[in-house]
Amino acid sequence: MFAVTKEDKMYREMLMSNVDEKALEWAQRRGMDVQHLMTYYSCAMREVETKLRVLDAEFSLMHDRNPINSIKTRLKSIPSIMEKLQRKGLNISVSSIEQELNDIAGVRVICSFTQDVYKLADALLAQDDITLVAYKDYIKNPKPNEYRSLHLIVEVPIFLEKEKRKMKVEIQLRTIAMDCWASLEHQLRYKKGKHLPEMTEQELLTCAKLSMELDERMDGLRKEASI
Ligand code: GTP
Ligand code: MG
Repeated sequence: MFAVTKEDKMYREMLMSNVDEKALEWAQRRGMDVQHLMTYYSCAMREVETKLRVLDAEFSLMHDRNPINSIKTRLKSIPSIMEKLQRKGLNISVSSIEQELNDIAGVRVICSFTQDVYKLADALLAQDDITLVAYKDYIKNPKPNEYRSLHLIVEVPIFLEKEKRKMKVEIQLRTIAMDCWASLEHQLRYKKGKHLPEMTEQELLTCAKLSMELDERMDGLRKEASI
C-alpha cells in the first residue's frame, strides 16, 4: 500500500471539484507562490489564535472561569480557493486571492456564554495591531434561517525576516449552542444539497429557536451566579 500524501489529497480534491483545466494548470505553475501565501495565512491564523488564548488565560485569572470553550482553525484548501475565484468570476492570481478573498484563514471560537462572544471580540479589536475589515453581527441580526454567530474579518501583521505583511483572517465567534446548531445544519445541508425539504427547513428553524432559548436561559443562570 502506498501512503497517501497531502499533495495526492489536494490533487484528488482538485480533480473532483469544479475547477477547470486552466486553474489547475495555474495552481501547478504558481505552486511555490501559492504555498508561500498559504504559509503566511497559516501564521496569521496562529497569531490570532494565540491572542485569543492570552485573553482566555487573563479572563480565567480574573474571573476564575474560561470564556472560551474551544478554538478551531482551518486553512481553505487550494481547490476551494480556485473554485471560489471562478464562481465569483474573479482573476486567478495570487493578488486576487489576497485582495478578494477574506476567508482563506479561518478561526472559530466557541464561547461559554453570549456575553463572552462580545467581550472577546471587543478585547481583540481594541488591540493596536488588529485592523477591523468587516463586522457582521448575526447574533443581533440572525440570518433568515436563524443562523447566529459574530463574524469578524480582521487584518493582523506577521513579521517575516525582511518584511511585515498584513494578512486577513475570518473569525467566527459563537456559543456552544450556536455551534451545535450550525455544525449540524451544515452537515444536513452538505449531505442533502442546498435545498432541503420544507419540513426539514421548518424543523431546523425550530431547533435554532430552541438553541437561542437555551442561550438565554443559560445567560440567566450566569447572571444568577454572578459570574
Ligand atoms: P462566503 O460564504 O464564505 O463567501 O462568505 P459570505 O460573504 O457569504 O459571509 P458570511 O459571513 O455570511 O458567511 C461566512 C461563513 O459563515 C460560511 O462560510 C459558514 O462557515 C458560516 N455560515 C454563514 N451562514 C451560515 C448558515 O446559514 N449555516 C451555517 N451552518 N454556517 C453559516
Ligand atoms: Mg467562507
